[in-house]
Amino acid sequence: MKITKICCIGAGYVGGPTMAVIAQKCPNIQVTVVDLNEQRIKDWNDPDTNNIPIYEPGLSEIVAEARGRNLFFSTEVEKAIDEAQVIFISVNTPTKTYGKGKGMAADLKYIELCARQIAKVAKENKIVVEKSTLPVRTAEAIKSILDNTGNGVQFQILSNPEFLAEGTAVTDLLNPDRILIGGDSTPEGEEAINALVDVYANWVSRDKILTTNVWSSELSKLTANAFLAQRISSINAMSELCEKTGADVSEVAKAIGMDSRIGSKFLKASVGFGGSCFQKDILNLVYIAKSYGLTEVADYWEQVIIMNDYQKRRFSNKIVQTLYNTVADKKITFLGWAFKKDTNDTRESAAIYVADDLINEQATIAVFDPKVSRDKMLNDLNYLQTRSVEDNNSKVVAFNDAYDACKGAHAVAILTEWDEFTAYDWQEIYDSMHKPAFLFDGRNILNSKEMESIGFIYKGIGS
Ligand code: NAD
Ligand code: UGA
Repeated sequence: MKITKICCIGAGYVGGPTMAVIAQKCPNIQVTVVDLNEQRIKDWNDPDTNNIPIYEPGLSEIVAEARGRNLFFSTEVEKAIDEAQVIFISVNTPTKTYGKGKGMAADLKYIELCARQIAKVAKENKIVVEKSTLPVRTAEAIKSILDNTGNGVQFQILSNPEFLAEGTAVTDLLNPDRILIGGDSTPEGEEAINALVDVYANWVSRDKILTTNVWSSELSKLTANAFLAQRISSINAMSELCEKTGADVSEVAKAIGMDSRIGSKFLKASVGFGGSCFQKDILNLVYIAKSYGLTEVADYWEQVIIMNDYQKRRFSNKIVQTLYNTVADKKITFLGWAFKKDTNDTRESAAIYVADDLINEQATIAVFDPKVSRDKMLNDLNYLQTRSVEDNNSKVVAFNDAYDACKGAHAVAILTEWDEFTAYDWQEIYDSMHKPAFLFDGRNILNSKEMESIGFIYKGIGS
């Protein structure tokens, strides 16, 4: 079977970049990305590709090349499903906010809606690909919906989790460490797996394309995120011990990372990991383990989240304590609001929680982020429902310029590791601040000695 038409449901941080790269690398495949969100689709179709809704280095160029040729963004979900041989499901799978499993389990309502819509529309056999991150054994539920509500056509369900990280999505997609495809070991299942392998083989070498059973593939994705997040919580746990003992966490990370069994990546101590996936996927893993009665397994992984929450709180506490135990009516400037550099995504960003703590202490927060609007910042804070929308409005001031944001501040806190922050004239920033001037580096991107020689009272993470 040769694939010539692909549909992707969900034009978000995964669907958009993933399909743009497939379209660029497979000019003979027509790729249509659909979404219910009309504004999002409108933004993907903006004539100026610099205005597409997702900021990722290199993405606008790829969209400019493929859009209108074999890459299309549309709200016509049913038409795209009907025409495609392969349907990728890339919709969001957030943590449930209601009912059984509230606060832990993945909310699969969007997935179920997709399955029902595919079943309703499909008049020919189709391959349905789980691209979203899903609890292990979700394919079973999708298959049941498809088989029981469909028009008698055959569906093959594949699991093809996405491992891209935001901020490096394009390079991750162009040079993946591996592509994982899980499917049934029946002849039809194998045919479907091979068809998808052939798509990726247009630019990924076949020895990097791994095929497994569906359950291994689904669980591997949750496991990968749990292992990655666990490294951050492990080094963050050490960061507090470093602060107490005179060790320096960057030196410790370097020393352990040179052990090839440990490896050097993902050992940066920070104010805590953010993003839409680590927390939600680990909570989901914990929920799954609990639902099988595996209490110790659940507790083991839950500790990764407990440590991360503690690290964010520890950072805001440190700011309050260092500023003589009160930040009431003080101006604290945040540099960065996104959960990491090179993205406009703020979901679960540590900045939100640190700001929330400081506003509770009646501080005023001035924020500069190169890619995040004030509306988004306020939405993030309002979502927590800690206080009224008006109160958040009066406590958060956004700036278009970092130097303006820092003027008259009692303290500057770095929440995102944007490269441009290291290139600032920190003497000028110091001169414009209230004295003594405090600098809290939640990402350890500045040189502590240099900052201290300027006059800052400098506090990094883990030294
Ligand atoms: P997102 O919220 O950015 O995008 C999801 C999109 O799906 C939204 O635009 C939404 O409007 C759309 N949608 C929801 N239901 C729909 C429906 N029934 N029909 C049409 N459109 C619908 O989410 P995301 O960050 O792209 O994540 C999607 C999935 O990929 C999640 O399961 C996530 O865990 C996983 N994932 C995300 C990343 C990442 O870095 N963001 C990486 C790997 C995997
Ligand atoms: C993560 C994984 O890295 C991807 O492989 C996965 O596909 C994705 O989740 C997903 O499933 O959504 P992402 O959350 O986009 O990607 O970004 P990361 O680079 O993993 O960063 C996550 C958070 O950890 C950020 O807040 C980052 O600043 C923080 N981090 C990362 C650290 O604090 N220290 C580190 O050493 C690395």
